[in-house]
Amino acid sequence: MIEDIISIAREAGEIIRNGFGTDFNIEYKTNESNLVTEIDKASEKLITEFIKKKYPTHGILAEEGGETRNTSEYVWVVDPLDGTTNFAHGLPIFSVSIGVQKDNKTIAGTVYDVMNNIVYSSESGSGAFANDRKLSVSKNGNLSHAVLVTGFPYNIYENPETALEKFAALIKASRAVRRLGSAAIDLCYVARGVFDGFWEVQLNPWDMCAGKLIVEEAGGVVTDFAGNEINIFTKKILASNGFVHKEMMKILNEN
Ligand code: IPD
Ligand code: CA
Ligand code: CA
Repeated sequence: MIEDIISIAREAGEIIRNGFGTDFNIEYKTNESNLVTEIDKASEKLITEFIKKKYPTHGILAEEGGETRNTSEYVWVVDPLDGTTNFAHGLPIFSVSIGVQKDNKTIAGTVYDVMNNIVYSSESGSGAFANDRKLSVSKNGNLSHAVLVTGFPYNIYENPETALEKFAALIKASRAVRRLGSAAIDLCYVARGVFDGFWEVQLNPWDMCAGKLIVEEAGGVVTDFAGNEINIFTKKILASNGFVHKEMMKILNEN
């Protein structure tokens, strides 16, 4: 199945790469910050049609509305373009994220970093890879030496979950905090040891499904802010190398 997941993610990435910088149609979703382009929709259509054809009994949960519920224990969780704001503004940081769950556990996933042509992939129990290279998280246990990454939900003007205070506290406590604009790529960068930790307060299942497995299979830890195990429907996510986890948790809970 992983070969199929990777090849359809690559094909979707091709649509996205060809659409980058062209005059595509843009619509608003919940507000003027929350965009969807015709390329998001074309990518999702390609992926969901592939699943329906090759795995007709499987369920699908895809961001732009392609939800198929059935009795299968398998569900494909799809973000057809993670990083739409970047894509729409010409910033080449975005991905395709596809995770497959069996009985609510992610068993395989891929994040395709479209413009760098890197396939991040994992099958549970078999490690995580960037193309053919095996990934491991960083070893740094000192938060003041850590480089972190985060993202903000589209209703950040409401400052949900005191997201801005959490950001202020962690940027002061660490070496740096970056904001790339694709949560799936953020998670892969934790898996490859570029970032020591990632957090976000209102993530969606398709943003994290594949990336969470990739971090865990690279030796990292993914929980909520209280250190509890999470599933893809948990909103608050903290992913780290494990060594800065407790210190990050403390700051996230105090702010
Ligand atoms: C968004 C990106 C962003 C994160 C947002 C997501 P989208 O996904 O992953 O980094 O901060 O919470 O909604 O809308 O580009 O697929
Ligand atoms: Ca997303
Ligand atoms: Ca998306």
